[in-house]
Amino acid sequence: MTAHTRQSAGNILTPERQAAIDRYRFVRNWTEELAAPLSPEDQVVQSMADASPTKWHRAHTTWLFETVLLKPYLAGYQEHDPAYAFLYNSYYEGIGPRFTRPDRGLLSRPSGDQIRKYRNDVDASMETLIAELDDSKWDAFTALLDLGLNHEQQHQELLLTDIKHLLSRNPTFPAYRDDLPVADSGENPPLEWNDFEGGVVEIGHGGGEFAFDCEAPRHKVYQDPFRLASHLVTNGEYLAFMEDGGYSDYRHWLWLGRSAVAEGGWESPLYWLKTDDGWQEFGLGGLRPLNLSAPVAHVSFLEADAYARWAGHRLPTEAEWELAAAPLPPAGNLLESGNLHPVPNQGSGPLDQMFGDVWEWTQSPFVPYPGFRPIEGAVAEYNGKFMASQLVLRGGSCVTPPGHIRATYRNFFYPPDRWQFSGFRLASDG
Ligand SMILES: [Fe+2]
Repeated sequence: MTAHTRQSAGNILTPERQAAIDRYRFVRNWTEELAAPLSPEDQVVQSMADASPTKWHRAHTTWLFETVLLKPYLAGYQEHDPAYAFLYNSYYEGIGPRFTRPDRGLLSRPSGDQIRKYRNDVDASMETLIAELDDSKWDAFTALLDLGLNHEQQHQELLLTDIKHLLSRNPTFPAYRDDLPVADSGENPPLEWNDFEGGVVEIGHGGGEFAFDCEAPRHKVYQDPFRLASHLVTNGEYLAFMEDGGYSDYRHWLWLGRSAVAEGGWESPLYWLKTDDGWQEFGLGGLRPLNLSAPVAHVSFLEADAYARWAGHRLPTEAEWELAAAPLPPAGNLLESGNLHPVPNQGSGPLDQMFGDVWEWTQSPFVPYPGFRPIEGAVAEYNGKFMASQLVLRGGSCVTPPGHIRATYRNFFYPPDRWQFSGFRLASDG
């Protein structure tokens, strides 16, 4: 495509530029729609150091567009407020100093109205920039625009996981939304095993569509034959582990797991509550009876690993998961399905629930692939500096936004973390 066909003329946008604006608006609007059911008070409070307030998520995602795109690319752009770089920089040492993460809930100011104006002003400037940017800068710009939009989608998921944690700490267990559907609790099909041959295979992102730097390069791995379970471990299956004394039997647990159980007083997944009426589970729709057929969620790697040992199996590696997922469409119970909660298996086999419902813990450390190169520039710190002591999760969850998941996608959290929509499936040697 030549330069002449790409740049906008007057008020007429080229299809490529109009598509970029449409996508920008689509992603930015989703954030506001997700925040809409929340009161101003809901949006300020921080329930723990790992979770950020909704208002902070809305401001931080805006700050990234302002910092990475508007300041470098829009001639004459004046930053919205010089204080915001300090308040809403998350972890970019190269960009500058930042406010302490555990104290984000203290930011009653700037007000919600000020953050709404911040978003609107940055959006207007971004649309001007997309329309008027010189062709010679377009490719570099759109690479960063893609990153900014995917970054905002990551924060959409975090907005929901973080608000769920906050509302769970309220003794009245308020719902994020009262109108969320209640899934049937039918029987799941019996567990079956999918056999994979292994050999010298390739995993990782090979280029083309957007991917985060940590998904590349595509590379060879040697894979022994393995087996992967046909569906996610359910609440009912996990309850059997609990009722068999699973949490108190040291034989199932890694050393780190035993101390996490002792220190955290863990007796069940994070949002389960035992009442006179039996087990209940808190979700974005409030406190509801535990659905035994739905996938277990909000378990740590340590709990998933203990369950797998109890069951006589193991967790998959990320290569095993990716090899199995690669031929499948990235579809399932994702954010746009509107459940905002894991649901019982809707598939027909032989390999169901690979995408959506819950992020699946793997036993693989989040480390660089051979030949990994971070993105260049201000966002070089995006993933690379987190490549120690965390484990990879795959497949997205019931709050993963539209178009944001693929077989090569690597999410990562620390082994004891439980506030994400994290579950697992079993694997076995072939
Ligand atoms: Fe971020």
